[in-house]
Amino acid sequence: MVGAQWGDEGKGRVTDLFARRADYVVRYQGGNNAGHTIVIGAERFALSLVPSGVMYPSVVPVIASGVVIDLQVLLGEIAMLRGRGVDPSRLRLSGNAHLIMPYHRKLDLVMERYLGRNRIGTTKRGIGPAYTDKYARSGIRVQDLFDPDIFRDKLEAVLSEKNKILTRVYNQLPMGSEGIVSDYLGYADSLLPLVEDTSHLIWDALQRGRTVLFEGAQGTLLDIDHGTYPFVTSSNPTAGGAAIGSGIGPKAIDRVVGVAKAYISRVGSGPFPTELFDEAGDRMVEVGNEFGTVTGRRRRCGWLDLVALRYARRVNSLTELFITKLDILSGFDTIKVATGYTAAGDTYTEFPRQQRVLYNCRPLYTELPGWRDDITTARDFGELPLQARRYIEFIEDQVGIPVNWVSVGPERGQVVVRA
Ligand code: GDP
Ligand code: IMO
Ligand code: MG
Repeated sequence: MVGAQWGDEGKGRVTDLFARRADYVVRYQGGNNAGHTIVIGAERFALSLVPSGVMYPSVVPVIASGVVIDLQVLLGEIAMLRGRGVDPSRLRLSGNAHLIMPYHRKLDLVMERYLGRNRIGTTKRGIGPAYTDKYARSGIRVQDLFDPDIFRDKLEAVLSEKNKILTRVYNQLPMGSEGIVSDYLGYADSLLPLVEDTSHLIWDALQRGRTVLFEGAQGTLLDIDHGTYPFVTSSNPTAGGAAIGSGIGPKAIDRVVGVAKAYISRVGSGPFPTELFDEAGDRMVEVGNEFGTVTGRRRRCGWLDLVALRYARRVNSLTELFITKLDILSGFDTIKVATGYTAAGDTYTEFPRQQRVLYNCRPLYTELPGWRDDITTARDFGELPLQARRYIEFIEDQVGIPVNWVSVGPERGQVVVRA
């Protein structure tokens, strides 16, 4: 299951729904930049690292190698779940996953400040700097915690470099290694029982015919390779990332569900062709409660972009779509949906290869009639107003794959299942 837009499509609730029939739920990339919301009755959970399948006692939640882990946040989330009556003890963690260190958080903060108006608008969780070190081969991994001498050596080597950058480039105070060593080695005992070869764990589950659900974080257009670079995250949220990040082969994946809102949102900077600056956009923010789960930032909102959704179909090999938040569109007289872009006299129906076009284009909208009815109690497709059904069918037709689920409210059961 992957986000088909710029994140916050409702992946947490989709995972929670699918996990009912899964044996393993695996996070394969990203870190605590993710904020996945699950609503069960009056309870609301916001998860950033623990896979959203944790709510079911029969599910083994797995944090695989491709995730970057802030240990303080992970342990805090485990404690939060325990405190609220959810048992996280089945959680398994890859020893190959990289750690987000205090200097990564610091660098994320000062680098964004340094960029000024060119900033990416990151979640400031240290994600970019942690992945930078991973690819520079100077990262520290979960397994290093269980080898204190190695941990200390690696930390001292990397910290001497980071301190030069912090002090000489960014005018910050240097960071000491002793506090970090004692904090991190202090976490080791509580982590040890969770650590496992998660690639092998998943392989073994698949051999035994178990169902494994991969829970993407972020979204297709935030992908480091296929998104709107540099306004992206530092990992691969796209479906291929599930294979890389969890250590399985691509042929082990047989269905790829793309999650998209009935409109679209984005947090942080970067091009956004269908962005609205009018009352319709304000209404999406207010009715849709479009404020970041992680940072509380107001999300930028706009009409559904089918050019981007067709692109998401292509780069993920999507087999089907899950459309969320259809209820937020109730009450609009007309609903617009972008089927193409126009820029400098050219028309684009495919995602443009030159990113400049995304900044300068005008969306080509098709207008569809809206509906006034409250749809939050619909459970069958036939219970939706004709106009809402037409909207969903229009999406199917334009993207070329079926919309098998439509959600009409945040609560676990507020969903129309079609297939
Ligand atoms: P994620 O990051 O993709 O998991 O999405 P977030 O949890 O950050 O944001 C989605 C928000 O929309 C959450 O507050 C959900 O509770 C809410 N939500 C999900 N599906 C629906 C829906 O069908 N209708 C409404 N009204 N809210 C929804
Ligand atoms: P979920 O999983 C929406 C965005 C940030 C910023 C860019 C880079 O809840 O959908 P980063 O901290 O990753 O270096 O920030 O990516 N971003 C998200 N936007 N949902 C998310 O996660 C996001 N995770 C990162 O706002 O623009
Ligand atoms: Mg989110």
